[in-house]
Amino acid sequence: MTSIGIHDLTVSTAHHVIDLAELAEAGGVDPAKFRVGLGQDRMSVPAADEDIVTMGAAAALPLLERHGTEGIRTVLFATESGVDQSKSAGLFVHELLGLPRTMRVVEFKQACYAATAALQSALGIVARNPGERVLVIASDVARYELDSPGEPTQGAGAVAMLVTADPALLAIEPVSGVAARDVDDFWRPNDSTTAVVDGRLSLTAYLGALTTAWDDFAARGGVEVAEIDRFCFHQPFTKMARKALKGLAQHTGADLKDSLQEETFPYNRELGNTYTASLYSGLASLLDHDDTLAGKRIGLFSYGSGAVGEFFTGIVQPGYQSLRRRDAVEAELDGRVPLTLAEYRELHSAEHPSDTDWETPRVTQGPFRFTGIRRQARQYEVRQ
Ligand code: HMG
Repeated sequence: MTSIGIHDLTVSTAHHVIDLAELAEAGGVDPAKFRVGLGQDRMSVPAADEDIVTMGAAAALPLLERHGTEGIRTVLFATESGVDQSKSAGLFVHELLGLPRTMRVVEFKQACYAATAALQSALGIVARNPGERVLVIASDVARYELDSPGEPTQGAGAVAMLVTADPALLAIEPVSGVAARDVDDFWRPNDSTTAVVDGRLSLTAYLGALTTAWDDFAARGGVEVAEIDRFCFHQPFTKMARKALKGLAQHTGADLKDSLQEETFPYNRELGNTYTASLYSGLASLLDHDDTLAGKRIGLFSYGSGAVGEFFTGIVQPGYQSLRRRDAVEAELDGRVPLTLAEYRELHSAEHPSDTDWETPRVTQGPFRFTGIRRQARQYEVRQ
């Protein structure tokens, strides 16, 4: 059987940025707590005329420009900050990207884990139809209450992946370890735009899901821990990946000190938590910053509060360096427009009625805009 996996992946983010040193100083917190204690430098914040749809479409556009649309019959959109209770955000993206009408489009939800569920589904679709390619998009805006402990772990961003047979980046191996348990560590009620979180419980639930998923991975014939060259973890904040590696080392008795790549951190330190996209922006960061990965095995752990986890592995393909987009990602990160804290707080507190017509101000310069609400339906435009 041919290998199946991630053929290419791209990262995109929001228009604005907040420097966490400023947020710390304004709150009377030592900036080192965010920079060192959480491992975060900045966080992306969406402008009024962007959302998970515009970020997701902007992430997918360069993939389609590079690889075309032929063979794509499925769009899987993963998010936990969905813009509608019924309609998939993927349908807006499908229209914005001008994808063919003959298409399967659906949204996946299970907190930050949903992109991995989408990826696993994509692998299954390609296994049945090796000529098909699946577009997986993970896009999220992480929002907590102002002045809460979660506030410095907000963020925004999207990753798009093309899943194919004979992938050029990462061939996903068949064994996965999974974990599920009903835990109230983090959730977002239907009438709330911010997450409710029990921070301490979320840390132990994450680490518990990791060891359960690892044990399942091992029981199902997964490789030995020593055969994994690098680890890439879901990163609500990058320090969490260090805690995860330490937890896995304690659980397996292995010395994993050299296996965590600092290279999984650069994008995530800048983006903040991107929920469903976080694990895969960490993977993009690793592939973009390490030249020595060809033939190496990466262990990936995906966590989604509530709580589920999945541990799986992939082999980096020879020539992966030729697909990298580090310059483009860095240019987008550097080009973000800083907000003052007063502007950020006003944007955070803005009301978004869905039962009256309104138009967003024209702020962003990206390829797609959220233009407002008309007859209770969200409206988007492609920049001409
Ligand atoms: P907190 O209470 O503000 O912070 O909340 P803390 O007191 O625990 O300090 C954080 C770290 O900073 C500690 O390091 C301190 O020692 C250190 P640790 O001991 O943990 O290694 N520190 C300092 N370091 C250097 N200089 C200093 C200094 N002061 C303190 N001066 C918490 C932290 C993460 C709980 C909070 O931000 C929060 O609630 N965040 C949201 C929840 C979250 O991100 N949970 C992560 C696991 S759950 C998950 O990943 C799922 C999620 O992505 C969503 C989903 O799946 O749907 C969230």
